[in-house]
Amino acid sequence: MSFIDAITHRRTFAIISHPDAGKTTLTEKLLLYGGAIHLAGSVKARKTAKHAVSDWMEIEKQRGISVTSSVLQFDYEGHHINILDTPGHQDFSEDTYRTLMAADSAVMLIDVAKGVEAQTKKLFKVCKERHIPIFTFINKIDHFGRNPFDLMDEIESVLGIHAYPMNWPIGLNGNYQGIYDRRSASIELFAKDTSHGQQKLSSTKGSAADPRFKELLDDDVHKNLIDDIELLDMAGDAFSAEQVANGELTPLFFGSAMTNFGVKPFLESFLQMAPPPQPRHAKEGIVEPADEEFSAFVFKIQANMNPQHHDRMVFMRICSGKFTKGMSVTHCQSGKTVRLMQPQQFLATERTGVETAYAGDIIGIFDSGTMGVGDTLYTGKKKITFKDFPTFPPELFARIRAKDSLKRKQFLKGMTQLAQEGAVQIYENMGSLESYIVGAVGPLQFEVLSYRLQHEYGVTLEMNRLPYTVARWLALPDTMAYSDLKNIDSAMAVKDHKQRLVLLITTDWQTNWIAERNPEVLFCSTPDEL
Ligand code: G4P
Repeated sequence: MSFIDAITHRRTFAIISHPDAGKTTLTEKLLLYGGAIHLAGSVKARKTAKHAVSDWMEIEKQRGISVTSSVLQFDYEGHHINILDTPGHQDFSEDTYRTLMAADSAVMLIDVAKGVEAQTKKLFKVCKERHIPIFTFINKIDHFGRNPFDLMDEIESVLGIHAYPMNWPIGLNGNYQGIYDRRSASIELFAKDTSHGQQKLSSTKGSAADPRFKELLDDDVHKNLIDDIELLDMAGDAFSAEQVANGELTPLFFGSAMTNFGVKPFLESFLQMAPPPQPRHAKEGIVEPADEEFSAFVFKIQANMNPQHHDRMVFMRICSGKFTKGMSVTHCQSGKTVRLMQPQQFLATERTGVETAYAGDIIGIFDSGTMGVGDTLYTGKKKITFKDFPTFPPELFARIRAKDSLKRKQFLKGMTQLAQEGAVQIYENMGSLESYIVGAVGPLQFEVLSYRLQHEYGVTLEMNRLPYTVARWLALPDTMAYSDLKNIDSAMAVKDHKQRLVLLITTDWQTNWIAERNPEVLFCSTPDEL
């Protein structure tokens, strides 16, 4: 395969969903069709092993497991596919958001009975801001589900994206019997699955005009299907590849991951429509995937996978060119030359060494501490600096300090390094150098911070959760000082790592109230908006 072919046949995407919608099951079925596993159950077993443990210390022991699930790769009919894992709510953190930066498209998985749920909304927002194509799979149609028109309405009104159903569930009052494929005008009805979805599924399939289906379906079910399709054709949004590419229209698929129903047609349509690796913006200009020189950015760091060796695995997304094992690259932020030794890729259940990889691929590299999240690596004389990741607004805050004040030096070193890794966001507590304020998007981040400071830096933390849920970066007019702000008694002022003023506030309502009383001040939900 030529260099260009290798790139155009790559698909790198993330599955976004609320816990329990069926992400593990769908991932597993995709691997099953890709031949990467032979019996469903192996990914699931790993998930169970991971979630059976309750605290971070135990999760730490399982790190080998969670690392392999950060990205999975398989081949399907000439395509090389990278699935990026976005962890469930227990592990929800800034890492989850940053992982989305490495994807070229996203699959949004929705439970047919539950519709759009909280975590899906948060992850969707990040994808929408990046304008990447989003494909929707409405799962569990083997079970009782909501009306498909209601679900479409909800996607449009809650998420603000139009939906184009590629197929349509057949059935009345949420009791579905199969799906109708709009492009081929064919019907597929569920077959009795005796293997509980462990094998690929067989079913009854044929043209919608086939008289067999009139017999197989009750009269009212058949009539309802014809009416629905007519309504969709007449009143629904038209399909537009351009709108899909810009993330303005989501192709919508119904199916059931557990019984494999609709998974293969989904995979095939997805591979046809989803984009290959896309150009990326760097400060110096656009970087094309087919550029000869190699470039990549770091989107995730997992440290101390082996506590005896203090090693760190740095996950990078290749943005251009070809990677070969042992190649020397420039680390943009330090200016150092780094050799990329022992690169790893992640197959269904294990990680393996890798000799070559291309734009679109994700590889892991062991690093001794040079690289930080968001950093760029490149070859060639022309400097490349990928733009900083956006800052994701924290929603949880805590005040921390070292229990033993003699450990202050280790405390500062640990906090600086963990902030470089992007484990938490750190704020200076105005007026006190003894304690710091940390912000996170998920509670596990605090647990990780506390555990790692103790085990890696020997510092026991004293941590007090604070009642704030909103952070606002403030732009004050030149003539105004912080002390001139009105009605901020219930809020807390801190400074971020670039010494910018941030106000921590308890509720959205309170935020609006304070903003109204300080009309000359700009209240920004991220520093990128300043
Ligand atoms: P997650 O990774 O998004 O959290 O979801 P996961 O795949 O673990 O699925 C959550 C539950 O939903 C599982 O049930 C799974 O079997 C079920 N599920 C997934 N896809 C379908 C589907 O198409 N139809 C139906 N009816 N159920 C589905 P569980 O009881 O938690 O686990 P298990 O005992 O089935 O393994």
